[in-house]
Amino acid sequence: MSNHLIEGRTIRGGETLMPGEILIPSEQIQTRLKEMAPQIAERHAGRNTLILGILKGAMLVTSDLGQYLYDAGLKDTTLDFMRVESYGNGTESTGQLTIKQDIMEDITGRDVLAVEDIADTNHTLNFINRYLLGRGAASVSIFALLEKKSRHVVPFQPDYVGFQIGNIFVQGYGLDYKQMTRLNRNIFVGPVEPNGR
Ligand code: XMP
Ligand code: MG
Repeated sequence: MSNHLIEGRTIRGGETLMPGEILIPSEQIQTRLKEMAPQIAERHAGRNTLILGILKGAMLVTSDLGQYLYDAGLKDTTLDFMRVESYGNGTESTGQLTIKQDIMEDITGRDVLAVEDIADTNHTLNFINRYLLGRGAASVSIFALLEKKSRHVVPFQPDYVGFQIGNIFVQGYGLDYKQMTRLNRNIFVGPVEPNGR
């Protein structure tokens, strides 16, 4: 599948925000997902796509996007998850990845739509893309809610991107700092210590 089907909408000025300030409010996230869904649904029509959420960060976006895809007519799908972890619990990915929970479905010959929270260094998406193709997927498309282009270490282009953000650490809407704040419905600037919000 060709790359870069939907460019991320640029969010400016995040670098000037203080930790705890909202970068992307819930309404804007939902509006963007709703707007993208029909185009993605059209791309995947008739292909019995496996929607694959990458845990834990993409839990909320997989659920919300999946429902908008369904609303947009993409009903011929199955849903699965895998959990990938990069070493370290701080704000940096190390590039060393381990699969903590594998896919349950047989993906041989399937068109897989992997849903990720953020494309940062790209180690994770590059790893997942290669892993899924190695497991026999017919095609792999990648949705990333956020992308930090300035941080890429590995050249990799997700097919669908929600928002482009600057070089800032963000939390909320699935994203954590020390495992907290994943259930905050807004995306805000971090790091905010556990119990800080
Ligand atoms: P890479 O660097 O492999 O990173 O593209 C992807 C994973 O790193 C985490 N990540 C973040 N988590 N706020 C977070 O809460 C951030 O700003 C951020 N940047 C990267 C995230 O787990 C993602 O899946
Ligand atoms: Mg993640």
